[in-house]
Amino acid sequence: MESSLIFNIICFHSQGILQALEFLLKRNYRPQRSFYIGLGHDEELSGKNGAKKIVAELESKGVKLAYVLDEGSFIFDGIITGIEKPVALIGITEKGAITAHFTVTSTPGHSSSPPKRTSIGILSEAMSKLEKNPMPNLFGQGPELLMFEELASEFKFPLNIIMANLWLFAPLVGRVLERTPSSNAFVRTTTALTMFNGGIKSNVIPPFANATANFRIHSAQVLEIIEQTIDDGQVKIELEDAFDPLPISPWDDQTFGVQVFRQAILDVFPDVGSIAPGICVANTDSRHYTNLTKAVYRFNPVFFNSTDLPRFHGLNERISIDGYERQVKFLFQVIQNSDFHQPTVPHANLHEL
Ligand SMILES: *[C@@H]1O[C@H](CO)[C@@H](O)[C@H](O)[C@H]1NC(C)=O
Ligand SMILES: *[C@@H]1O[C@H](CO)[C@@H](O)[C@H](O)[C@H]1NC(C)=O
Ligand SMILES: *[C@@H]1O[C@H](CO)[C@@H](O)[C@H](O)[C@H]1NC(C)=O
Repeated sequence: MESSLIFNIICFHSQGILQALEFLLKRNYRPQRSFYIGLGHDEELSGKNGAKKIVAELESKGVKLAYVLDEGSFIFDGIITGIEKPVALIGITEKGAITAHFTVTSTPGHSSSPPKRTSIGILSEAMSKLEKNPMPNLFGQGPELLMFEELASEFKFPLNIIMANLWLFAPLVGRVLERTPSSNAFVRTTTALTMFNGGIKSNVIPPFANATANFRIHSAQVLEIIEQTIDDGQVKIELEDAFDPLPISPWDDQTFGVQVFRQAILDVFPDVGSIAPGICVANTDSRHYTNLTKAVYRFNPVFFNSTDLPRFHGLNERISIDGYERQVKFLFQVIQNSDFHQPTVPHANLHEL
């Protein structure tokens, strides 16, 4: 069989993959379809030496993948307001990102006769403008529309009517979503001021000040908006590590990967009420895999509720024993389901999806 698949998953997820493999080996399972496991070591540091090199190696061997399953999204339990049953959101895209550095330089001098404006004052004002003027709320103009449309019937009345008619209600829903940081991330390019430096001595006019902001991109034109907002030629702007939002992976009942995941979710998580395409607001290694397949999915088969939210990359990050067991079962199931399911789209056409 020509197609292959890959798991590129980190942290506790990689443990789960290895455990699922061990179970399969113990049962003398021989996969019909090749699959690859990509365990990068530097996902949190952009994957330049891990995922990127894994992909280069696969590309050099001419490998084409039926799909990629990466980390990124979860089974959300009680997180989406208005939906009672857990929702499995499978990430079909993720936001882009830009890091911007801002610098202001001025002539140093003694603090006894200061100029009207110092580099610190100028830069603080510029940063304050960025924070006070968020990027435009674009709810309904991106892939989030697909998610809400698919979930519309799961919402309680009257939210179900509203969600089914986003052509009319998108601006209203967008304004509600922007009220909390986690849902605000769905509706716009977010702005996070992350670093600020300036000054060298308590009685010296600062020769420079610099700051860094990290933007997670909903849609492009970020630099233009930053420049317009700051509107001050004294602030020099440099960009680093910029990349656009990721391509949207196919999502329909005919898509091979989606069929495989759907079946595995039904088998292992009967308590899940719905499965829908989602958007990752954080970034994963997935972006390095786009040359190997159009079908890249981000899904960690683990329940995630409001108690878990602050633990994420925070204190006491953990997974329950039951959660881990189900994660292993899911992966065990996905590998086997990939043998039973035949791609409904011929391989040659996979690229055109
Ligand atoms: C900002 O200034 C600090 C202090 O001089 C320096 O260490 C840092 O590299 C500068 N950052 C940027 C992005 O230029
Ligand atoms: C995909 O391939 C093109 C052409 O070889 C290359 O320029 C690009 O950087 C690759 N993309 C990724 C994400 O590796
Ligand atoms: C979240 O899930 C854990 C079990 O994984 C449970 O102990 C906790 O009560 C749940 N919290 C909420 C708010 O549902």
